Amino acid sequence: MSEPKPKPEVHTSGSPTTDARVIPTGGDSVSDLHRAHMIQMNDPVMLTADGVESPETGDEPGFGGSDSVQRLHDAVMREQAEPRDGFEPVPFWVAIVCGALLMWGGYYIGANTADFRRDIFDVPNPKATEVITAPDPDPQTVDELKAIGAQKYQSICAACHLPTGEGKPAENIPPLDGSEWVVGEQAAPERLAHILLYGLKGPVTVKGKTFSGATMPAQGGLLKDYEIAGVLTYVRNSWSNKGDPDNAKPAITAAVVKAVRAKEKDGKKRPTDGSDSVTMEELLKIPIGPAAPPKK
Ligand code: HEC
Repeated sequence: MSEPKPKPEVHTSGSPTTDARVIPTGGDSVSDLHRAHMIQMNDPVMLTADGVESPETGDEPGFGGSDSVQRLHDAVMREQAEPRDGFEPVPFWVAIVCGALLMWGGYYIGANTADFRRDIFDVPNPKATEVITAPDPDPQTVDELKAIGAQKYQSICAACHLPTGEGKPAENIPPLDGSEWVVGEQAAPERLAHILLYGLKGPVTVKGKTFSGATMPAQGGLLKDYEIAGVLTYVRNSWSNKGDPDNAKPAITAAVVKAVRAKEKDGKKRPTDGSDSVTMEELLKIPIGPAAPPKK
């Protein structure tokens, strides 16, 4: 172990205020701190380089030698200070502005897209309105009414009364083929319109047999007047049914159904949802006669 070298004097050249290369001499100066470490390490090279005037180069203390601690530090400091592109955090105000823009954009879309309905800005088509407000067809001939009625019969009535019009006596569903309610003496367009519009409940006698227990569902809320007229014309002119005995009125038109629908019961419109179905007794009170209002 060699004797630690005495603390070297710090040399300054020129006035401390004018010369930038003056090494600070305070007790906590970088040089002093380094020197203490160098002395501990007992490294003559570093000691020479960092604190003492170099005998070979004549450099000022702290700046001499190619491996000067000061110069190493300078390089390291420079490297660390070098800014790198692309990894800077987003400035606070940019985040605030972007967030505000997003919120405003969301509000704007929500407030101006009319519930995202694509048709909302369509120019109204006068022809389309015509279709909506166009009156229902009002066929008058048996063939036209039968064609409309055949479709409705197959999709609605056939489930109960069967495509053959036989009904299902075992399930208390009466036949339509040969029924005196459909054709014959007590068959009346107005009575039939009642059965279809409001439904039928309670016992009903058809072809000498009484059916009770099952209910005929009301069709007034489901079918339009001309459709009810069509299905009635269909059942009166299908299978063995051949309209009225004299075949004076083979067709039932929408006017008959409309007239029945317009009638009020106890001062108000009769419900077509099956909550106020007709009974056989009520049907029998309806007179058989021309139900359709006279044509204009
Ligand atoms: C859910 C089964 C069911 C459906 C669907 C149904 N009916 Fe009925 N229908 C009945 C029942 C049951 C009766 C007897 C009601 C009673 O006992 O009071 C009846 C009675 C009738 C009557 C009077 C009795 C007769 O046999 O002449 C007619 C007319 C009639 N239905 C026509 C139709 C027409 C037309 C349709 C189609 C629009 C239709 N029904 C749809 C079950 C049904």
